[in-house]
Order: sequence, then C-alpha cells, then structure tokens
Amino acid sequence: MTEAQAPSDILVHTEAGVMTLTLNRLDKKNSITGAMYGQMADALQAADDDHAVRAVVIQGHATIFSAGNDIGDFLNAPPAGTEPPAFRFLRGIARFPKPLVAAVCGPAVGIGTTMLFHCDLVYAGDNAAFSMPFVNLGLCPEAASSILVPQMFGHHRASEALLLGEPFMAEAAAEVGLVNRILPPTECNDFAQSQARKLAAKPISALVETKRLMKMAQLPDLLERMDEEGRSFGRMMREPAAREAFTAFMEKRRPDFSKV
Ligand code: COA
Repeated sequence: MTEAQAPSDILVHTEAGVMTLTLNRLDKKNSITGAMYGQMADALQAADDDHAVRAVVIQGHATIFSAGNDIGDFLNAPPAGTEPPAFRFLRGIARFPKPLVAAVCGPAVGIGTTMLFHCDLVYAGDNAAFSMPFVNLGLCPEAASSILVPQMFGHHRASEALLLGEPFMAEAAAEVGLVNRILPPTECNDFAQSQARKLAAKPISALVETKRLMKMAQLPDLLERMDEEGRSFGRMMREPAAREAFTAFMEKRRPDFSKV
C-alpha cells in the first residue's frame, strides 16, 4: 500500500493493484483547477508506468462527483499554451491503456460527465445528476464529447444534453449505456473498488489488449476532435458570452446574454 502524496484536492491511493483517484475539494464541490488536472494527469501516467497497478478508479464523494472546471480559473486563468494540464488529463484518460472505473454520486457537471465517456465501467449513485451545460456557459463541448455523446445517445438525445444543456439522472444515463449499474450513494465507491479489484486479479496483458482492440479504431479521431474542440473552447472562453456566464456564476446571479 502506498500513499502518493499528502492529503490534497486529489487523493491518490494504491492498494491491491488498484490506484484510486479521489476528487477531494468538497468546499468547492470538487470543481477542478489546473493544478488538479495536472495531478490527475501525473497519476494516470504513474499508473501506466507502474506494473503493479492494473486498474484505476476515479471517484468523488457520496454527495458530489464534480462541479466541473473551476469557473474562477476559467475567468482569471484561462488555459494558455499548447499543453495546459486539462488537455494533458484529457489525452491521458483517452489513451489510458488499463481499465478505468468511475464511481459517480451527486452532480457530475461538464468534464465531470465528459470524462466518463473515456472510462470502461461507470457506477452511479441513485443521486447522480449528469450535465454538460457548455452552451449555457457560452462554450462548446470538450473531451471529444461532440463525437462520443451523439454516438452513445443518438443525435436527438445528444441535443437535449449538449444544446439545451439539460441534466439527466442516473436512470436515464443507465438507459443510454453511460452507466453500468445504479447503487445507493453510500455503497457506490466501495462497489467500484470491488469491481476494479476483480479486474486487477485478471491477466493484465489480456485486459490491455482487449481494451486496445475495443478502442483503437476510434482513438485517432477522438484525439483529433479534442484538439479541434480545444481550439474553439479556448477562443470562446475569452469571448463576451462566456465572460458574462462566468462572471454571473461568481456573482451568484443569472447571466444576461441579451447584449452578447
Ligand atoms: N467552479 C468554482 N467554484 C464552484 C464551482 C465551479 N465549477 N461549482 C461550485 N463552486 C463553489 C461555489 O461558488 C460555492 O463557493 P462559495 O461557498 O465560496 O460561495 C461552493 O462551491 C458551493 O457551491 P454551490 O453552488 O453553493 O453548491 P450547490 O450544492 O447549491 O450546487 C452545483 C452544486 C454543482 C449544482 C453548482 O455549484 C453548480 O452548478 N456549479 C457550477 C457548475 C458548472 O457550470 N461548471 C462548469 C462546467 S464547464
């Protein structure tokens, strides 16, 4: 058993062949800062490099998975350069060769939902509420969700999620195939852990090859789309609609898009 770092906004714990990443910024609803993306990207790289790690679990708290990207960061420190930590994390999760299991309870907003399309097994608390409100923030999809959401949901349900930005609950997510199983929130993380340990007991070479074969055809397209989305997202987050949405959130008021 190893403890990779002191308690922080991302807890990293490895035991019985399973590395567990826990979003641990509860006072800000597990919203994700640049530093947190960097820690998660580093942890995934370490999990890839470490032969003793055979599966990874990403989890939050029984009341909240993640409120998505930190909106203060969007406003004050928008990603710059060619490889901001968020992109490193997204590329890392899309390419990750070993099984990835997610446990999701409570709200999963923005990247809190889109990262799940890159996981292999997703377990949800019955309180899980998924949403991708990019349009409501003056933004566009990320994490190749502009491919993966229509592919999984069909165009019309994808439009409810991505154009209207409407939340959907655990049962709807299970119906479309985003969620494998719904559990009481207090049992969700433990169940995901037990499934990951089942995976960790299997031959790693067979797991990795099976996952590679299932995902190899689409990976180049997903990485290319992430770049395309990233260019648009980066431009849009500096434009008036997004600035108004972020400022309104920070000021705890409704956004006024009438002038943008
Ligand atoms: N970025 C930064 N801070 C956030 C945040 C985010 N994405 N989400 C929540 N917080 C902060 C709030 O500002 C608040 O901080 P304060 O206590 O200093 O005022 C604290 O977390 C609690 O949030 P609150 O909105 O009061 O909690 P809630 O239980 O009523 O609602 C959510 C939870 C997740 C539904 C709501 O916080 C939310 O919608 N967040 C924004 C989601 C979003 O649009 N993310 C971007 C996606 S691209």
